[in-house]
Amino acid sequence: MTTILNIKSSSNLQGSVSRQIGAVAVEKLKAQNPDAKVIERDLVKTSIPHVSPQFLGAMFSSNEDAAGLLLSNQLIDELFASDIIVLEAPMYNLSIPSVLKAWVDHVARAGKTFRYTPTGPEGFLKGKQVILVLGSGGIYSDGPMKAMEHQESYLRTFLAFLGITDIEVIRIEGVALGPDKAAAALAQAKQQAGLLTRHAA
Ligand SMILES: Cc1cc2nc3c(=O)[nH]c(=O)nc-3n(C[C@H](O)[C@H](O)[C@H](O)COP(=O)(O)O)c2cc1C
Repeated sequence: MTTILNIKSSSNLQGSVSRQIGAVAVEKLKAQNPDAKVIERDLVKTSIPHVSPQFLGAMFSSNEDAAGLLLSNQLIDELFASDIIVLEAPMYNLSIPSVLKAWVDHVARAGKTFRYTPTGPEGFLKGKQVILVLGSGGIYSDGPMKAMEHQESYLRTFLAFLGITDIEVIRIEGVALGPDKAAAALAQAKQQAGLLTRHAA
């Protein structure tokens, strides 16, 4: 059975482009894998707290089942259980929404999702396929804003840190550059999402 983890992080619950295209991607993957189980992790509807003193204390204790780690353990279990991750992220202030960063802080756990070796970090999340669905008002994949981009580059670096390198990006860029540009970006992203296929693990 295929398990799809769908992570949502747009606070726009009405007209979000990342939510819209993420849904197209999940539907396409489900159509190809009719027995697929979908785990929905909506970081806006059920938010993840910031790193708290309780979480920090638990993380550096030797008790893996400490109360402060329950949510972190659950989020990590969802990652390990998944074959495909559809990760939706709008650009907020040149980077990712803080709710998504809070999720990052809960799933990066030494000894559980990665370890440091003499040759550098090693991620434990092998064999996962990730679809990154990225919305932004401006255009950052090329041109004068490229150096300001800390959304895709950050997520790619973090996912690689966890061992995930099979990453396809669907960008919905330039949605603030007028209705025509927004419609074209959305149409292109919809088409790309409609062509998604599951890769062999
Ligand atoms: C709080 C906030 C900050 C934003 N910061 C940026 C930004 O730095 N650069 C940019 O190009 N667009 C920025 N935008 C625009 C969003 O990236 C754009 O509207 C995108 O479509 C959001 O994805 P969504 O529709 O899935 O929510 C921002 C939007 C919000 C709400």
